[in-house]
Amino acid sequence: MSERIFSGIQPTGNIHVGNYLGAVKNWVQLQEKYDCLFCIVDYHSVTVAYDPEGLEERVLDATATNIAAGLDPEKSIIFAQSLVPEHTELAWLLTCLTSVGALERMTQFKEKAARQESIFAGLMNYPILMAADILLYKAGLVPVGEDQLQHLELSRDLARRFNSTFREYFPEPKPLLTSGARVMGLNDPSSKMSKSLEGSYIGLADEEDLIKQKIRRAVTDPGPQGGKMGPGVANLFTLLEGFADPDVVNYFKRQYAQQSLMYSELKESLAAAMNTKIAPIREKRRELLAKPEKVKDILYAGAEQARQIAQRTMSEVRQLMGFRI
Ligand code: TRP
Repeated sequence: MSERIFSGIQPTGNIHVGNYLGAVKNWVQLQEKYDCLFCIVDYHSVTVAYDPEGLEERVLDATATNIAAGLDPEKSIIFAQSLVPEHTELAWLLTCLTSVGALERMTQFKEKAARQESIFAGLMNYPILMAADILLYKAGLVPVGEDQLQHLELSRDLARRFNSTFREYFPEPKPLLTSGARVMGLNDPSSKMSKSLEGSYIGLADEEDLIKQKIRRAVTDPGPQGGKMGPGVANLFTLLEGFADPDVVNYFKRQYAQQSLMYSELKESLAAAMNTKIAPIREKRRELLAKPEKVKDILYAGAEQARQIAQRTMSEVRQLMGFRI
């Protein structure tokens, strides 16, 4: 059996090309070689203020979009966290092994807490739930972006603490740093592409006209800046490399080097290349969401498979921790 990979996907709408090039595209390849679990982390999504009425829709949207982009329920286990109660069960037991200080030092917690009026324990305990997600399946590799490395380090610490307190049991999960591109905002190339800023992102659900319009409005630079490419143009090249054929990329790179690049031409080709790749994803997503019951069935079937592994782990963990009645 190949090594196991676990990754958590936040249930959000507006999954964009930054998510695609930075993460999803990579997962699609990983599922060919590894035993993969992809979990829609709905319990993580309630650690900040949220709308309960929209939660189901967000879970279905994230599931459908990721499947449309290539995650394959035949190859990987795709499920929702809230369908496998062992996640919260293990999270509680790990909570009892976690020092409050370590949680308070988490960069993401500090940033999010600074924006809250009252800070709930769930926001602080977020990384413990993430550790439970991973350890429940004894995953050896976790594909993450830079921003999750500190959380993953806590998962490793908890595995080590469990092993030294009770018995050698959990493997220490290693990060698989996504080699994917870091895509910046179209309207502000100094910050990451974001789904909450209109004009910043191109969604995998966006129609052709909207793609063209957003690319046309993307920030460029007045020209080569002292021999160094400006961030707006560099971002357009990142996208071009992600979506266009290599000869198209090379053509525009030559144009740039010869200082004869026309931004309008670059943008037109980029929008066309993006639409070619996005159109089938957009269609497949639409088809899936037209039958939400089918999407739910995928999540239920995935949860059943996940649960078999999770239950085995939990029964061993209960034994090891002394819950034997
Ligand atoms: N915290 C991750 C994020 O925001 C999502 C996540 C939850 C996750 N559980 C995980 C990622 C387990 C990897 C493994 O992106």
